[in-house]
Amino acid sequence: MRARQNRKFPRPARPSSMSTARVCVLLVVFSVTLAEDVNVKSKPVRLFTEEELERFDGTQEGQPIYMAVKGVVFDVTRGKEFYGKGAPYNALVGKDSTRAVAKMSLDPSDLTSDTADLTDEQLKSLDQIFESTYKAKYPIVGYTAARILNQDGSPNKDFKPENQPHFQIKDEF
Ligand code: HEM
Repeated sequence: MRARQNRKFPRPARPSSMSTARVCVLLVVFSVTLAEDVNVKSKPVRLFTEEELERFDGTQEGQPIYMAVKGVVFDVTRGKEFYGKGAPYNALVGKDSTRAVAKMSLDPSDLTSDTADLTDEQLKSLDQIFESTYKAKYPIVGYTAARILNQDGSPNKDFKPENQPHFQIKDEF
């Protein structure tokens, strides 16, 4: 049956590797342009205090769920099965859980942004999970004071928002 259909409607010719390459180059140029746009416009970012972040701890039905890693606040609502009320990683949300993620620990003493005394391996693991899970899966909604402000409360001049071009592209469409 399938063979007959194929005879009537022959498959369109595969694009040549040349045209595929051209499409890839265009896509790269497009993404780079978007990324630059975001930097140039430097959109205002939302600053979360600890108290504000606590309100998004998954306990309130219908509220989004937020979690910070390395001072970056992610909307992890689409991972409700991990982070929602009663879910296995609910302890990580409504706060900055950098240390817990780095150590893969749910010990209450690790549910902090404190990275003191972490091993090189734990810091490497943290960066890997930050990139491949959090930045890849969850949109950034803001930053904690630790990331945006200096200890004396003045703005941190070195602050640079994280790039998340795949979410920007999704928003465009
Ligand atoms: C017996 C121990 C554990 C088992 C069997 C386990 C298993 C899993 C599984 C199956 C996933 C889902 C992977 C996926 O579908 O993408 C996952 C994700 C994850 N686990 Fe665990 N886990 C354990 C302990 C822990 C601990 C102690 C932490 C502490 C931080 C942790 C943090 C995470 C995180 C952050 C994710 C990613 C969730 C996401 O995609 O948003 N896990 N784990």
